[in-house]
Amino acid sequence: MVPVVDLSRRGQRFASAFAKAAERIAASGSFLLGAELSAFETEFAQWLGAQHCVGVSSGAGALQLALSAAGIGPGDEVLVPAFTAVPTASAVSALGAVPRAVDVDRSTACVTTQSIDAGVTERTKAIIVVHLYGYPADLPMTDLVVIEDAAQAHGALRDPGRSIVSAYSFYPTKNLGGIGDGGAVVTNDADLAERVRILRVHGMTAQYVHEYVSQNFRMSEVEAAWLRLALPQLSNDVQRRRAIVDRYRAAAPDLRWQTPHPDHAYHLAVFRSADRTRTRAQLESAGVASAIHYPLAITQQPAFRNLEHADCPEAEAWAAECISVPCFPEMSDDEIDCVSAALAGLGQ
Ligand SMILES: Cc1ncc(COP(=O)(O)O)c(C=O)c1O
Repeated sequence: MVPVVDLSRRGQRFASAFAKAAERIAASGSFLLGAELSAFETEFAQWLGAQHCVGVSSGAGALQLALSAAGIGPGDEVLVPAFTAVPTASAVSALGAVPRAVDVDRSTACVTTQSIDAGVTERTKAIIVVHLYGYPADLPMTDLVVIEDAAQAHGALRDPGRSIVSAYSFYPTKNLGGIGDGGAVVTNDADLAERVRILRVHGMTAQYVHEYVSQNFRMSEVEAAWLRLALPQLSNDVQRRRAIVDRYRAAAPDLRWQTPHPDHAYHLAVFRSADRTRTRAQLESAGVASAIHYPLAITQQPAFRNLEHADCPEAEAWAAECISVPCFPEMSDDEIDCVSAALAGLGQ
């Protein structure tokens, strides 16, 4: 069976270099907020062409800190796409702010200026634009504070600084995946970056002086060292993802894929099927595993469905029909051929 993702292959790529890094960190006695993290922050900011990167404990934490540093707080309403990973919405709730879901576009699965205009209320302060599956969504024309959830979009965004702040995740399956949890807040605004650095460590501005109420959002040195090993290969990995999905699209052009985009970073390769159960069974019998990202829209999630949302029929249709097929840089050519053939066979 071709797996949707196989992290052991990624692990093997970096295992021996990582063993040396782990030894170095152990001997240094500096386990948190040390040289590895500070080097990674510089290197990732450079890779993105951004001015500031603050490494934190997770993508969810990065979103929460980005929102907070951008001035979002209790009672503020924040628009989120109705079709996204749940942490996009829970980061809003974690601040005592209120997520309000708006619909997504049928062909990109991302929000549009129109869907935001249709969902905005007089209480709305901000919008989180999610670059879902690695698709580089256009930023809306709006006066709202725009925050980018780039958890799935390493390599998709050529233009950091279009919004005031972006949040990345280094969850192990991501395009730049860690050996544990991790995330980053990326911005060109030096003051905002400084606020995030303070909020990352319990709101502390000097030794044991806490200017703000916050929590622990630190990234470990071990995680940062792993990410430094993976970062130099990220551009090639993203190219490989694009080449894999190009093959799938060429083999099965009639499937309903996201609209093509040259900068799509293909964290996931997703198409839609009106009869998902049958399609997944066909894939399985051809030796291809599949997954669902995500089975419920935010409007349908038990934790969020009682909030007030805009009508989100397109998001709910995506949730009912999406299927993710294997897409990771370590796939062999034989595996790519196998998935391509299975996809080509679906129409028959
Ligand atoms: C779109 C999106 N936002 C936020 C997150 C949260 O990231 P993390 O799992 O690193 O907290 C994820 C990852 O799961 C995600 O895919």
